[in-house]
Amino acid sequence: MKNQLLTILLLSLSASSVHGAVAAWGQCGGVTYSGDTTCVSGYACIKVNDYYFQCQPGTATVSASTASTTTTAVTPTTATTTASGTAPTGTGQLIRGVSTPIYHLYLQSLGGVPVMAAEATAERFIISGSIQDTTSGLYLNVDGSATTSYKAISFGATATTTGWGLEGDTIITTNASVFGRQLNFLACETSTSGAYKLYLQTGSDTPSGETCTSQTLHLPCLC
Ligand SMILES: *[C@@H]1O[C@H](CO)[C@@H](O)[C@H](O)[C@H]1NC(C)=O
Repeated sequence: MKNQLLTILLLSLSASSVHGAVAAWGQCGGVTYSGDTTCVSGYACIKVNDYYFQCQPGTATVSASTASTTTTAVTPTTATTTASGTAPTGTGQLIRGVSTPIYHLYLQSLGGVPVMAAEATAERFIISGSIQDTTSGLYLNVDGSATTSYKAISFGATATTTGWGLEGDTIITTNASVFGRQLNFLACETSTSGAYKLYLQTGSDTPSGETCTSQTLHLPCLC
């Protein structure tokens, strides 16, 4: 956290010497990044992982007298500590929704949480038993310990879910000893408008207090 705040501080301090500003949800930093580090007004450059800093709603302000930094960013209610991974080589695939309200929204990390959100910030994934995010190097995992039929999905540094696969262009689970063949997900509203977090749905339970729709996930059109 301290490093993150320091980074935000440094990015904020360098703002005055940078021309142009990064659009909402755009990349504004990272190990191999060389572009602008200033976000448009109302957005702050937030570290998602070492390789990816993103302009998220909120403000980072620097107080000259105390040299302290405060950051407010809108993150999903389930936001957890961001793990770090090693970004793989390979291009990967986009993963998209095909029905309202996630029609043409794409899988990506929002503050370390896998969400369906705008195409402009879509990330690419290598689907090969595991699903690995080519931006962060993290793996898409399903929480198999959940007793409800819906199972939370998160990013992790190691692949604990290895039964991912494709059926045509549809993302499925295949491991008979865990979830079996499943292709239904719940996409649920987060506190960030236009970003929906995911559960794998293996039955008919629904998370109370959340607004969710039943969804399937797909590769972009193969036609
Ligand atoms: C299926 O899941 C079990 C339990 O997590 C795991 O031990 C096994 O390696 C998985 N099989 C495949 C093919 O991924």
